[in-house]
Amino acid sequence: MSDRVIIFDTTLRDGEQALAASLTVKEKLQIALALERLGVDVMEAGFPISSPGDFESVQTIARAIKNSRVCALSRAMEKDIDAAGEALRVASQFRIHTFISTSTIHVESKLKKGFEDVLEMGIQAVKHARRYTDDVEFSCEDAGRTPIDHLCRMVEGVISAGATTVNIPDTVGYTVPSEFGNIIKTLFERVPNIHKAVISVHCHDDLGMSVANSITALQHGARQIECTMNGLGERAGNCSLEEVAMIIKTRQAMLGLHTGIHHQEIHRTSQLVSHLCNMPIQPNKAIVGANAFSHSSGIHQDGVLKAKNTYEIITPESIGLPQNVLNMTSRSGRHVIKHRMETMGYPEGSYDLDQLYESFLKLADRKGQVYDYDLEALLFFNQLHEEPEYFKINYLSVQSGASVLATASLRVQVGEEEVAEAATGNGPVDAVYQCITRITGFDLRIANYELKSKTEGTDALGQVDIVAEFEGRKFHGMGLATDIVEASAQALVHVVNHIYRAKQVAEYKEQFQRTRMETI
Ligand code: KIV
Ligand code: ZN
Repeated sequence: MSDRVIIFDTTLRDGEQALAASLTVKEKLQIALALERLGVDVMEAGFPISSPGDFESVQTIARAIKNSRVCALSRAMEKDIDAAGEALRVASQFRIHTFISTSTIHVESKLKKGFEDVLEMGIQAVKHARRYTDDVEFSCEDAGRTPIDHLCRMVEGVISAGATTVNIPDTVGYTVPSEFGNIIKTLFERVPNIHKAVISVHCHDDLGMSVANSITALQHGARQIECTMNGLGERAGNCSLEEVAMIIKTRQAMLGLHTGIHHQEIHRTSQLVSHLCNMPIQPNKAIVGANAFSHSSGIHQDGVLKAKNTYEIITPESIGLPQNVLNMTSRSGRHVIKHRMETMGYPEGSYDLDQLYESFLKLADRKGQVYDYDLEALLFFNQLHEEPEYFKINYLSVQSGASVLATASLRVQVGEEEVAEAATGNGPVDAVYQCITRITGFDLRIANYELKSKTEGTDALGQVDIVAEFEGRKFHGMGLATDIVEASAQALVHVVNHIYRAKQVAEYKEQFQRTRMETI
């Protein structure tokens, strides 16, 4: 059996499914490119039948990605598989992933069927998917709670039908490692054709067991792990990619396995996913948390100063975490910025240097000293705000204080014209929001507002993330500035630009459909 573990990333499917506001096609593509640089073997780009937007993102990603296999999800239904096959057609290498529930509770209560029916549906789905590709994955949803006889029959049946990967998900994160390992072991003992397919696992983290269960499965013969960056995913999330990759690397001597992951890409991929998905990383999160490499207690610090390996089992450099934090000023030239970016793992060409340098100079003028982490924050901000803006703040002024009614006056570029507005509010942010909503005329509701200090010190960059609801859809916006009211305004303008684009797309589709109806 091979000692290479296939890393199947599902950040863009299982991970995205769990976000408050869905990602735009462009944001998904940015993540896909980062996952490709990270070296994932397979990336699940979406669920094409679920929406036209998902279909478009899968197709866009399939077209752009060259070094990872692009995969799309489909229920065990012909129309789902056809949509997946159609979206993936443009890829250099692709996989169709089809699934059906196998546990009694899912089969009877959710699908209202019997096991024999789902067995047949699974087999037919695999046969249908094989018409598009010879790389077909089948998942037995809720395998962790499936009677083992049923699971063995299903695995045998779909392999005979042509599945080349069979995935065993612990969909509800219910099992413990010994139990889950035993399921994999039993499959290897009882399914006669099991060696014709790769056995994969997909564990959820409801009881905090996803990583332990996945590693135990490898010890019993599984050779693919399905995981997500930062452990994003339904409910408590999925097995975290960075943890699995670093366990396999750090404990290589014991496990005897390896992956194709470029570990030095872990930090920046994790940061990018966190920013674009608006999902902060808990500080004590293994591998990618802000405190993952900081030693607090005096005894630990003393030990690390004497010999790093007293308390450090992995180095920050091994995941690409920049070590030397250098400060730059407005006198620093472009080559310094380019050099710092390179040191942090962002080679020239992977970002827009001119745009970054311009933002850097603006920040340096206001803040004096700019640090590595400021540069990274500016980079993510620029990436998020890359699309052309219909609404743009030209001027913003606020007056507020302990005994003053907060007042804001704004001039906003709306397409070709500039519109001015003034408003009072319950605090400066509210006053600014009143102005922006009046100017745009969008009747939106702020569902979530979060302010955090992005960097260090009282002159730090403040990052504001908001989630706004508009006509039943959620939109995410992010702002970054040393002034928190300005950051708040930027975040809302980011949202209204998203809404504007979504409305344009909807209008375009409506018009397209109307023209089609007229020509029929
Ligand atoms: O959790 C699960 O079972 C899934 C399947 C679709 C693989 O996400
Ligand atoms: Zn899942």
